[in-house]
Amino acid sequence: MVVFDVDAFVSECRAALGETRPQAAIGELVQRAVAEPRAIDDAVGVPTKGGMRTLHRSPELTVLQFVWPPSVVLFPHDHRMWAAIGIYGGGEDNTFYRRVPDRIEVSGGKQLEAGDVALLGAETIHSVRNPHRAYTAAIHVYGGDYFGTPRSQWDAAGHEEPFDVEAVRRTLAEADARAAAEVSRSDSRSGSA
Ligand SMILES: [Fe+2]
Repeated sequence: MVVFDVDAFVSECRAALGETRPQAAIGELVQRAVAEPRAIDDAVGVPTKGGMRTLHRSPELTVLQFVWPPSVVLFPHDHRMWAAIGIYGGGEDNTFYRRVPDRIEVSGGKQLEAGDVALLGAETIHSVRNPHRAYTAAIHVYGGDYFGTPRSQWDAAGHEEPFDVEAVRRTLAEADARAAAEVSRSDSRSGSA
């Protein structure tokens, strides 16, 4: 049986920080981890609610379990540090943006499904959508302090503002509530049939 051990994973990631290409090395560790979704579920629980769970936080490394509620859309934001994003359940659609004077514009996109790993550069600006009506689960590794680094998000008109992690939590909670309402609506429909 394959085991996902959070402490061992964090230790391997920390050791990989010393490699010549730490992001690529950590991407390989994430790739190996997300190939065994049941092992991650056993270690951190089956995702039933949107949110970010911190598995490790230090000035040079953050490891998160990230759960996207069904159909959630998260506004554009940057990280100001490299990231390795591995999906182990569901999928996510990324839209990428470039800076133009006074705003951002779409520059591309990438669809990720379970087992996929994306390496994002420190300059990346992206928004994320869960295209599925089920929870998407991911392991995110960042080459810095995800919560302590000032960075940006962009409003619907493409204007830059300071990143607000509480706005992320609110977005996830609202999508959770919509998903729960949909489940109870379909329960009452099937109940009356
Ligand atoms: Fe992001």
